Amino acid sequence: MKLALIGQPVAHSRSPQIHKHFAHNSGREIQFDLIECSSDEVDTTVKAFFAAGGHGMNVTLPHKATVMGSCAALSHEAELAGAVNTLVPDAQGLRGENTDGRGMVRDLKRLGIALKGKRIAVIGAGGAARGVLKPLLDEQPSELVWANRNPLKLEGREQAYLAHGPLVCRANLALKGDRFDLLINATAAGHHGQAPRLPQQLFAAGGVAYDLSYGPAAQPFLDWATAQGAAAVHPGIGMLIEQAALAWQHWTGELPDTTALHQDMAAA
Ligand code: ATR
Repeated sequence: MKLALIGQPVAHSRSPQIHKHFAHNSGREIQFDLIECSSDEVDTTVKAFFAAGGHGMNVTLPHKATVMGSCAALSHEAELAGAVNTLVPDAQGLRGENTDGRGMVRDLKRLGIALKGKRIAVIGAGGAARGVLKPLLDEQPSELVWANRNPLKLEGREQAYLAHGPLVCRANLALKGDRFDLLINATAAGHHGQAPRLPQQLFAAGGVAYDLSYGPAAQPFLDWATAQGAAAVHPGIGMLIEQAALAWQHWTGELPDTTALHQDMAAA
């Protein structure tokens, strides 16, 4: 089975290791390529990969929105997120899926973090943030607050989600005085070595912080959350594993067991 990840950069991705683990456990042989290309090469690169017998592709930054142009159809999740992280070939052409949000929710549940009836905030307005909103609303929080440094970027955007649950939009600094059971950082601030500037005392008793990034990019927000008294802080490495498991399910029809992989990657 021929699989690949497309992005820029891709060299340090953990995806090959994850998919090789799934392949090994299911007795399949895979070739997993890392393909780096610029935005204007995405369409031709994707089409060439599938024309040459590719079975599935993961898409990472900065191509998650660009690659929508190569899709014949989009899942509801991908359409709402305005981003695709998984390409699946079918009879009609390429189908664009987004497994990031459901992958994150699977990781939160694995970590024992309650969502139903809880107050949750998502910080950030980009594709990463938009991808997690509907899967979070599906878990029936009491309220989901969507916040961004520049609140104008959220204006009018909440309409698309209101059918799925209670979502309100705020500026980051207007969160002052609010309390959350779960605060999720979906900004790009960590990639510049920063935590988003947020008011003090945002964590409710037992409140937890989660960063969609992992490695050094997750650290500034998680350090800030620890200093603010968060009961637990989690980087998004588990989300990476779970989004890959859901992508694997799209490609093969089988949902892999991720237990051992979480242990291995946490130990590493
Ligand atoms: P992606 O699609 O990967 O999510 P993006 O579209 O570049 O990335 O979005 C970047 C997000 O990170 C935005 O929400 C941005 O906030 P603004 O819209 O106000 O610019 C947020 N972000 C980046 N650096 C930040 C910082 N230092 N503090 C707070 N938010 C930041």
